[in-house]
Amino acid sequence: MMPETPENRPSIIRLENISFSYPGSNNKVLDGLNLDIKAKDRIGMMAPNGSGKTTLLHTIMGLCKPEHGVIEVLGSPMETQRDFTRIRTKVGLLFQDSDDQLFAPRFWTMLRLDR
Ligand SMILES: Nc1ncnc2c1ncn2[C@@H]1O[C@H](COP(=O)(O)OP(=O)(O)OP(=O)(O)O)[C@@H](O)[C@H]1O
Ligand SMILES: [Mg+2]
Repeated sequence: MMPETPENRPSIIRLENISFSYPGSNNKVLDGLNLDIKAKDRIGMMAPNGSGKTTLLHTIMGLCKPEHGVIEVLGSPMETQRDFTRIRTKVGLLFQDSDDQLFAPRFWTMLRLDR
């Protein structure tokens, strides 16, 4: 059997040449970003305040739409909002501020929102 190396583990999240600016701003928060997170990787992200960590996570979840570039989750390209909706049953994001997370008054209402 072939030994398992980082090179032959499957990609879970792969970004290629992703750029993103918030509407009305010409500051490129993400500028040609490449990232490849593979099965069994444990990733910590450290960067200064306002450098784009949250924007990056929102981009992976389809909440920020990049100007160009490729997003692949579990080997599938994320091209439409429907692709992201489908993958959200497998990939979750917990927001850093729980007040942003709990936006519906009842837990069960929130669970139903993404169906
Ligand atoms: N909704 C928004 N509209 C316009 N600009 C935004 C918005 N959200 C973030 N920005 C800007 O985008 C840049 C990146 O912000 P982001 O929140 O992604 O950084 P961060 O690394 O998560 O910061 P922190 O460590 O404070 O959480 C900052 O310059 C910020 O001001
Ligand atoms: Mg943040």
